[in-house]
Amino acid sequence: MTTQPLILITGGAGFIGSHVAVELLSVGYNVLIYDNFENAASDVPDRITKITGAQATVVRGDVRDRPLISETLARYKPDLVMHFAGKKAVGESVAKPLFYYEANIGGGICLLTAMSENNIGKVVFSSSATVYKFVDGKRLTENAPTCPTNPYGRTKLMLEDIVSDAVTAGALQGAISLRYFNPVGAHSSGLIGEEPRNKPNNLFPFIAQTAAGLQETVPVFGNNYKTPDGTGVRDYIHVVDLARGHLAAANYLLDCKDTGEHQRINLGTGFGYSVMQALSAFSSACGFEIPHKILPRRLGDVATCIADPELANRLLSWRAEISLDRMCVDHWRFQKNDSR
Ligand code: NAD
Ligand code: UD1
Repeated sequence: MTTQPLILITGGAGFIGSHVAVELLSVGYNVLIYDNFENAASDVPDRITKITGAQATVVRGDVRDRPLISETLARYKPDLVMHFAGKKAVGESVAKPLFYYEANIGGGICLLTAMSENNIGKVVFSSSATVYKFVDGKRLTENAPTCPTNPYGRTKLMLEDIVSDAVTAGALQGAISLRYFNPVGAHSSGLIGEEPRNKPNNLFPFIAQTAAGLQETVPVFGNNYKTPDGTGVRDYIHVVDLARGHLAAANYLLDCKDTGEHQRINLGTGFGYSVMQALSAFSSACGFEIPHKILPRRLGDVATCIADPELANRLLSWRAEISLDRMCVDHWRFQKNDSR
């Protein structure tokens, strides 16, 4: 009997990492979750087991803890690493830039160095559409100019470049940075999803909490954009589709002995929905009207941000499949179940 590859997921108990763990375990991969649980509930690994019937190994630790990450890599010798661990709030990154650089760049360098020292050469990195210089109205290909406008976005682009340099120098053998558009939704079991600890900044968690009565009304930031109904348009992608994109990236890297390349790849649907369309779809999912009020535009927002997902389709044979309605139904189910 051949042993299935082992994939180490930093931040594997978080929103996206937990869905990726489910997809990997479901097809028989072995999974090691390395997480300090600063933004995840401690029973997430048990919930992953409930969904899949399979158990991930769990190491509680920080990616900046060089001895521990190195020891973990040396002990388990994963075939591939997926790196999700880090900080992700744009506003907080503007207020605390040094903290963000230390957490995201410091953490990334610590991990990549430990990988290189332990001859573990394949990595999938969580990047973001936030690296692009936004040009309204065009679907963004991976060749579009980059120019992040805040420290969080800069940590993403810097770490992409660091990964590239490491691959060029032979310190890594193959890498993929996945640039996510707007991940939303939750697993259809209702057991895992996004659990914002503070007042949410992003649209879907805000709508979900308003529907649940935790917020009074959804603020709609601007209704005078050049979009069909005047509100901002985004490429929302179901987190399960996103997780399957990671499975496709893992398969691609594991199939090649040594790609010697770093690919930067969009994960989006290629379709955009406005704030009002998202609100209306979510209202249908819950069966009642969710209150909203129109406010001025939010600083830094653009009218439209939509992926060109063709490279992912061509290279990874992956395409997003889940509809906006399902995103809302699944997000709402998780919100209702969420007693934590
Ligand atoms: P999340 O906060 O839910 O998950 C991150 C996980 O990493 C958490 O479980 C947290 O406990 C853990 N963690 C944080 N710092 C750590 C550290 N120093 N050491 C070990 N573990 C640590 O976030 P998410 O939404 O799942 O995002 C995952 C990744 O994807 C992040 O790198 C984020 O920047 C990126 N990303 C997210 C989005 C999004 O909308 N959620 C969009 C684009 C990119
Ligand atoms: C945000 C992040 C981006 C990250 C992405 C991932 C910011 C500035 N950008 O993108 O770095 O990669 O999430 O999910 O935080 N909106 C409202 N009311 C709200 C919240 C949002 O009307 O309460 C509108 C926004 O103006 C925008 C749309 O909804 O038009 C989506 O906003 P949001 O969910 O915050 O995502 P982005 O800003 O696209």
